[in-house]
Amino acid sequence: MEKVAVLDSGGQYCHLIARKVRELGVYAEILPLGTTAKKLAKYKGIIISGGPASVFDKTSPRPKPSLFQLDRPMLGICYGHQLMARHLEGEVEKGNGNEYGRADLRVRHEIPLFAELPLRQRVWMSHGDHVIKLPPGFETLGDTRQCTVAAMGNLKRNYFGLQFHPEVVHTAYGAEILRNFLFNVCRCRMDWHPEDSVVKVFEKIRKVTKDRRVLFFLSGGVDSTVAYALTVKALGADRVHGVYVDTGFMRLDETREIQGAFDHLGYGRVEVVAARGQFLSGLRDVIDPEKKRQIIGQAFVDVQDHVLEQDEFAGSDWILGQGTIYPDRIESGASLNSVVIKTHHNRVPSITKLIEEGRVLEPLADFYKDEVRTLGRVLGLPQELIWRHPFPGPGLAIRCLCAKKNEKVVTDSAIDSLAKESGYRAFLLPLRSVGVQGDSRSYAQLTVLHGGPLDFRSLLPLATAITNRHQQTNRVVVALGPKRWRPGEWKVHKATITRKRITILQEADRIVTEFLRSNGLYHRVWQCPVVIVPLSRNGGETIAVRPVTSVDGMTAETAQLPAGKMGELARELMALSGVEAVLYDLSHKPPSTIEWE
Ligand code: XMP
Repeated sequence: MEKVAVLDSGGQYCHLIARKVRELGVYAEILPLGTTAKKLAKYKGIIISGGPASVFDKTSPRPKPSLFQLDRPMLGICYGHQLMARHLEGEVEKGNGNEYGRADLRVRHEIPLFAELPLRQRVWMSHGDHVIKLPPGFETLGDTRQCTVAAMGNLKRNYFGLQFHPEVVHTAYGAEILRNFLFNVCRCRMDWHPEDSVVKVFEKIRKVTKDRRVLFFLSGGVDSTVAYALTVKALGADRVHGVYVDTGFMRLDETREIQGAFDHLGYGRVEVVAARGQFLSGLRDVIDPEKKRQIIGQAFVDVQDHVLEQDEFAGSDWILGQGTIYPDRIESGASLNSVVIKTHHNRVPSITKLIEEGRVLEPLADFYKDEVRTLGRVLGLPQELIWRHPFPGPGLAIRCLCAKKNEKVVTDSAIDSLAKESGYRAFLLPLRSVGVQGDSRSYAQLTVLHGGPLDFRSLLPLATAITNRHQQTNRVVVALGPKRWRPGEWKVHKATITRKRITILQEADRIVTEFLRSNGLYHRVWQCPVVIVPLSRNGGETIAVRPVTSVDGMTAETAQLPAGKMGELARELMALSGVEAVLYDLSHKPPSTIEWE
């Protein structure tokens, strides 16, 4: 089988590249950026991924100098493109303005990399530094308004560099560019068939488990269900014990629904552990999202210890099974060079320790959500389960924003002026949420737009312009209600996670889910987190909705739901007791993440 190497510069996107290559029918392997040229010589082509570092940082990941002497087709992406330029005597300039989001690329479409593609195409950018001088032998193959060397190549050596990300779905012809690289440039054969994965996963499960048994944490989501189903099929139901933890941060009625679904599947008994008090009390007064995530992760470990103390487990050797998928790992900083965006509940220190001891089974750790769904289909799981929206392990706790003290909202005149140009007004909330910019984590303030209609043609470019130009904000929302805002009347109020706030959130979430289902919108979005925000005029709360489209959760675009329908939804939410305002999140990922915390 022919192979392509993807060199990991620590980007969020490195495995995304490998997956896209595999989808195109060529086997791709991820290797460290510092892999020797000798080892790389057996690959048909080499792709160097993007990464969070700047080529100017002393500590940034470096390839072996011999890499760029290799006589193999090579494609550098983002950081990889800049590395290629620097190592081959071109020049890179440190970014003063960063470029995130969509850009219009103009290409030289007569060359093999862009063969049969339009002259102009939409691409996705996420970078600070950029190439300003081509290395000898290279020519410019594409540019955008902000980036003069958006694509370059040495056609004799088959070396190419792209400043944008062809691996993300938001690059209109990204898959075609990669296909051209694989088949026109590397001249690969199409000989990789991913359906073989199920058998390989069975083998992995048996190898990791040895003669031990598996205690499996289930959330009712597609990942843990597919991982559990694979494990039951590989080992037999008597060696697998499913546990569902009722954390109190689930959706309304979810525990009952999930119990019913598992009874129906008939994979053996799933134990429900009631742990509401334990989870809630651990989070009392916790504001910081990372702290919340750590505490929740630890609470799951405590439940596990508690379950294993039961008599029926005495004397047998157990390991822990989890539905972790690849993005969970990479965003928790699992890859050699990547930074932590969010610590997932299944990557807290005590679980990492168990992993090091070989006591954790994660059958899906190398798969992406869409591949997990494919495996689910192969296993014959019900469609309803396979196509459920993803729901994070920490549940509504990370959708319940908290604040240390009361604070007035502030009007930032520069942001407000920018908004006015598009017919809106803007103010900043002294409340932060998590984002991902240029592969790094950000934790920045929220911008609220108001005073205009839900017109995505104006709002989406405005949101991108605000987050591009103003680093103090990484997320932009527009108010769906009330109609009129006097920012001076509003404040962020001191708030923690309480049962009362979670109940409001559960009710709001139920209204949103039913709204999506009854309007045929549920399957038009990938996920629609509902968030409670301590923003009020008269001591109430604000609800934010975050509908996104995505393929794998690594990147996402704001879903553009019909404005009229959203008006109806806002009215319904505002009728909930204690809800004073409704916001619609306009931010793509990047710069924002899907979940707010
Ligand atoms: P973000 O917020 O990182 O989310 O853009 C990407 C996807 O991951 C889900 N997510 C989680 N899933 N445990 C999980 O099982 C977690 O701690 C967690 N945090 C985020 C999120 O819902 C989205 O689908």
